[in-house]
Amino acid sequence: MPIIQFPKEMKWGTATAAYQIEGAAFEDGRGLSIWDTFSHTPGNVKNGDNGDVACDSYHRYAEDIELLDQLGANVYRFSVSWPRIYPTGKGELNPKGLKYYHDLIDKLVEKGIEPMLTLYHWDLPQALQDHGGWANRETVDAFSRYAETIFKEFNGKVKYWQTINEPLCAAFLSNYRGVHAPGFKDLQLAVDVSHHLVLAHGRAVKVFRDLGIEGKIGTATNTTWREPFSNKSEDMEACKREIGHNIDWFLDPIFKGEYPQYLVDWFKNKGADLHTEEGDMEIICQPIDFIGGNYYSGNIARYKENDGLLDIENIEIDYDQTYIEWPIYADGLYKVFHYLAERYGNIPLFITENGACCIDKLENGKVMDQDRIKYYQQHLTAVSRAIESGINIIGYLAWSLLDNFEWAEGYGKRFGLVYVDFNTAERIKKDSYYWYKKVIANGWMEI
Ligand code: BGC
Repeated sequence: MPIIQFPKEMKWGTATAAYQIEGAAFEDGRGLSIWDTFSHTPGNVKNGDNGDVACDSYHRYAEDIELLDQLGANVYRFSVSWPRIYPTGKGELNPKGLKYYHDLIDKLVEKGIEPMLTLYHWDLPQALQDHGGWANRETVDAFSRYAETIFKEFNGKVKYWQTINEPLCAAFLSNYRGVHAPGFKDLQLAVDVSHHLVLAHGRAVKVFRDLGIEGKIGTATNTTWREPFSNKSEDMEACKREIGHNIDWFLDPIFKGEYPQYLVDWFKNKGADLHTEEGDMEIICQPIDFIGGNYYSGNIARYKENDGLLDIENIEIDYDQTYIEWPIYADGLYKVFHYLAERYGNIPLFITENGACCIDKLENGKVMDQDRIKYYQQHLTAVSRAIESGINIIGYLAWSLLDNFEWAEGYGKRFGLVYVDFNTAERIKKDSYYWYKKVIANGWMEI
């Protein structure tokens, strides 16, 4: 059987996010987030699910770290719940919230697992949303203060820091498509929010550098791939637009100090103007240490007049799909990481999420998720191809350690290496967990 060998220095691990796993939504002084409000509003989340209890990781974090340790993970990416730290987003600090993350981080460090801390994975304090949320520039000030608190508190313990997870989702899925909290459908709002998210990123990086905080700081960007259906310029431009909306719109300001003009013009044509203020671009355009890319899927696509925001349609080609109906397109990972390297230079790249949603059946205490193993095999092959072709990928994090609250899809869509019984919170290692453990231990895999 052929073998794929990974570099010895490669970092391996898994990723999660606070609202998706912690639960304890009303405990120890945590304030409400927009996801509490959104998920408790009927019709927003499948089956009326919410994150009140989730995986109960707030109480079971030690068990989760044990799972990571047994897996052999070197890195664990998690996010901090802003309303646990500042229940109303600003004002009074909640010491119990800080204590939870101290306990979590100390335990990781004790086990030799490097913490990767994401400051914002979508759970904006509701009190800030009540004053306009990310559309209000004051939220950027509040974020900067929250970031400063977290940097000072965990300085010296956290190895990797990430500012905003997937600003595309936080801006457009949440404020243009309305499928994520806070659930608005307004393009101008989405464009305003996206600028403030990028600005918040910049402000946090500035605080980080000014304070001389240890560790590396980066982002976590949506990455996807669209392969043009034909070489007609309209198909090629449509694909470029979709990829650029995911990547260029958020990373060009950081690396080039300007927004991609073709997208500024495109949104203007669709009725939304980009508003920036003097000095914003200087704050945003500061060196970062790595780019995090979250990759799940890709498509063959072509231009379609007046179709949605970007005038593009995906073509149904007979690819296998995961249970969430995303085509399995591992080649897209190879291509999109090349795209990042070509556009932004030889900066270290970290795959901060990659994984598959499958129909998992617990039978006789086992989950035999061969389909997920196959997905990982295909995508890790693409990772290896990218590395072999000179792309500076330094780490890989599987999404996710645990089955968890899959946002608007609720608990019905499972992505974990570990199965969670949501009635008892019992954790059961799936076959993919054992498979990934072997890959980490060996540094190679059979294909
Ligand atoms: C997000 C995760 C989410 C995953 C699967 C990513 O967009 O960062 O929070 O669970 O995709 O949908």
